[in-house]
Amino acid sequence: MDEEIDYVRKGYAIAAKIYRDQKDGTQAEIPLFKQWLNHPQNSSKILELGCASGFPIGKEILESGKSYIGIDLSLEQINLARKEFPQWKNYFILAEMLSFCKNQPSNNYSGIISMFSIRHLPRIYHVELFTNIYRILTDGGVLLIDYTYYSDEGRDTWFEDMPMYWSSFSKDWMYLTLKELGFTHIAEYEDIKMFNGKEEKTLFLLYQKILTNQ
Ligand SMILES: C[S@@+](CC[C@H](N)C(=O)[O-])C[C@H]1O[C@@H](n2cnc3c(N)ncnc32)[C@H](O)[C@@H]1O
Repeated sequence: MDEEIDYVRKGYAIAAKIYRDQKDGTQAEIPLFKQWLNHPQNSSKILELGCASGFPIGKEILESGKSYIGIDLSLEQINLARKEFPQWKNYFILAEMLSFCKNQPSNNYSGIISMFSIRHLPRIYHVELFTNIYRILTDGGVLLIDYTYYSDEGRDTWFEDMPMYWSSFSKDWMYLTLKELGFTHIAEYEDIKMFNGKEEKTLFLLYQKILTNQ
């Protein structure tokens, strides 16, 4: 589809296991995650974009008993998820997020979540992705995403010497774009934690698709 997407895929072929090994479960304790998961409108199907090894987010959602599909670009990540959670192996699917969303029917998911993954999608596709996310959410459906604070795009190394490609717009771009697409901003939360030996600040954003019967 795109050489940068392919570059990310190659990066995770090397990084998948290393990434899983440094994960702890704290991501599922973020208050905004609980608010999103337990939101009254989030009661049918959930989609995770960039689910990686399924830990801890896919696991937490599946344990809650909700209907879930996690998709990821990387076969190595999907294989890790299927190996760690064999009872849920059919819910982890190999797919690229933009192509997947474009092929989904409208009004299909009550909740969509993506953490630390959209930042790997080339910026040229971000508006198209969010347009399709809006379309495939049910009325009142909720979206939880993380976003970076800065605007940047390009190839870099990761975990010292692994190839990776990063892409993001500014926080203000994000606010304006999602508003323009029809999303309602519900809440946000700044998380600060150590990652790969460095302090990392992440902004989590909770949005809702407008309820048409209101
Ligand atoms: C940093 S990891 C985050 C994994 C997990 N969401 C988490 O919070 O730990 C990014 C994941 O997004 C996946 N990814 C990157 N670009 C993608 C794309 N265009 N479509 C689907 N998955 C993608 C990568 O393969 C990788 O598993």
